[in-house]
Amino acid sequence: MKTTALAHANIALVKYWGKRDPALNLPATGSISLTLKELFTRTTVEFSADLAQDELILNGERANPRDEQRAGKFLDLIRAQAGIAAFARVASENNFPTGAGLASSASGFAALALAAAHAAGLSLSPDQLSELARRGSGSAARSIFGGFVEMKAGALPDGSDAVAVQLHDETWWPLEMLILITSAAEKEIGSTAGMNRTAQTSPYYPAWVASSVEDLAAMRDAISRRDFQQLGEIAEFSCFKMHGLALSARPAILYWNPLTVELIHAVRGLRQKGIPAYLTIDAGPQIKVICLPEYSEQIRATLEQISGIRKIIKTSPGPGAGIVEEEGERGNGEPEKR
Ligand code: DP6
Repeated sequence: MKTTALAHANIALVKYWGKRDPALNLPATGSISLTLKELFTRTTVEFSADLAQDELILNGERANPRDEQRAGKFLDLIRAQAGIAAFARVASENNFPTGAGLASSASGFAALALAAAHAAGLSLSPDQLSELARRGSGSAARSIFGGFVEMKAGALPDGSDAVAVQLHDETWWPLEMLILITSAAEKEIGSTAGMNRTAQTSPYYPAWVASSVEDLAAMRDAISRRDFQQLGEIAEFSCFKMHGLALSARPAILYWNPLTVELIHAVRGLRQKGIPAYLTIDAGPQIKVICLPEYSEQIRATLEQISGIRKIIKTSPGPGAGIVEEEGERGNGEPEKR
């Protein structure tokens, strides 16, 4: 059955950086994220006996062989589970500008997991979908759910407990996040390679893993009490700890550019003036400012005066992944469209 699914991007408030099992893509630590309403991927999957290989169209163009292979390996997992051999035609579009330097693997693999599993005739629980999405990309496990989401590191060797759970849905707390795009350049090292190098070479890595437990508890607590200051402080702590850790890898991994640093100072400056604004940064140079809605315009007005920012995207908590269209044959041979 041809299936279209939609999944939203997410941004980690407590970061995932490092794997306990690279083959099954099991994270070494838990993480907590916010799913974002304004940024999403829409993916259509159709398995067809006519195809000689999997085909991936990304934003209207045939994907490069590396991305196509990664998608193909992921589809192999679904074929194995569903007991089918056919290759798939996959068309995927991000509503956020490509080359904006925003990670699309979270929304991308969440949408692909849902669309492909359904198209292959599997009916998976949200837990199983999250586990499947994780095999594509760790952060994708979180995008199955909306709102505030915790990814569990799990302890089982097969990874069946390394899945995300929703802490609170998207209506729990109307936070806002301003994404400041400082560069559209391709990053030097992707998150998978970056975290693997960090785990192998940084002397600080064991401390990072051990200290995450406390951050997760403090973040859960901040969210459940809607304590903005605590949320902001822990989010910045986890972010800077991750980037400091990456800097301690050998060779060092540095994701920031000069404008990233300038914006870090600017956000601290806002706080010194009594404006509650905190930031987080993923494996790239973009700054994400976390704020309460009543302050977001003032924060934007101050930050947009800094020259060099290419774009500012305002985001808010969004829903989990869902199927938006299906078309094809049901078991009774009746064509179905919804
Ligand atoms: C910095 O989920 O992209 O965004 O599992 O290797 O695909 P893989 O990594 P990925 O890493 C995300 C890293 C991060 C932090 C986070 O989202 O938790």
